[in-house]
Amino acid sequence: MNPTSDLIHLKSLKFKYAKESPLILDIEQFSMAPRERFFLYGTSGSGKTTLLEVLSGVLPATEGKVVICGQNLTSLSASERDFFRSQNLGYIFQSFNLIPYLKVKENILLPLKLNPHPPLNQKDSEVWLQHLVQRLGIEGLLEKNVLQLSVGQQQRVAVARALIHKPKLLLADEPTSALDFEHREKFLNLVFEIAQEQNLGIFFVSHDHSLKSLFDRSMDLRDLQKVKVPKSEDFR
Ligand SMILES: Nc1ncnc2c1ncn2[C@@H]1O[C@H](COP(=O)(O)OP(=O)(O)OP(=O)(O)O)[C@@H](O)[C@H]1O
Ligand SMILES: [Mg+2]
Repeated sequence: MNPTSDLIHLKSLKFKYAKESPLILDIEQFSMAPRERFFLYGTSGSGKTTLLEVLSGVLPATEGKVVICGQNLTSLSASERDFFRSQNLGYIFQSFNLIPYLKVKENILLPLKLNPHPPLNQKDSEVWLQHLVQRLGIEGLLEKNVLQLSVGQQQRVAVARALIHKPKLLLADEPTSALDFEHREKFLNLVFEIAQEQNLGIFFVSHDHSLKSLFDRSMDLRDLQKVKVPKSEDFR
């Protein structure tokens, strides 16, 4: 375990939404290696999205250390964390957060448009965009409005948007989707292939155990938390 070479390194992390609110996260130690594919299971309301927001620097840790790609986020200001995120992290939101009045292509390119220092120039980003959409099988959808897409297609657009700036770490919040296991497995294997080409690490959270065997390592958020909430089977 080496904080500078780990992709994610957490030490004595505590998070609460407000001073008088309960602790949502209380993690003594956690590390994830570069290129690792990690699955975190947690029931609804257990803190998965909160943890992803702390890892991405959207929310500041209340206490402790959050080191991502060797950068200690706790020593950065909110705007420095925003910049760090725009250069290094890809994020797939639980609800995708695609912009409904923009076309698929505009949605995918949005992070580069909003980035004052885009990590790719326009020519390289067009080449990378074409590669990504072909790999994801959405090259025929670029001019469509996102409202015209199926949930599975929206998921692929969300992946393309999360990877358009070639991040080092992909944080994925799996939605409560109606997609079947076969579809999700196929989709995930495709993301893994792209991740391997790009030396990308994946931190994936879900309240559904069924995909965990596809990952290099998996954990239950309750086992990561220092303060134990009773497991439902403890009541049996
Ligand atoms: N903005 C907020 N302000 C205050 N409390 C919040 C806020 N967002 C979430 N919480 C609380 O933090 C806890 C963890 O919520 P979180 O959204 O991280 O859970 P989750 O594991 O992602 O759940 P789900 O599987 O339903 O998405 C919950 O008790 C929730 O009510
Ligand atoms: Mg959530």
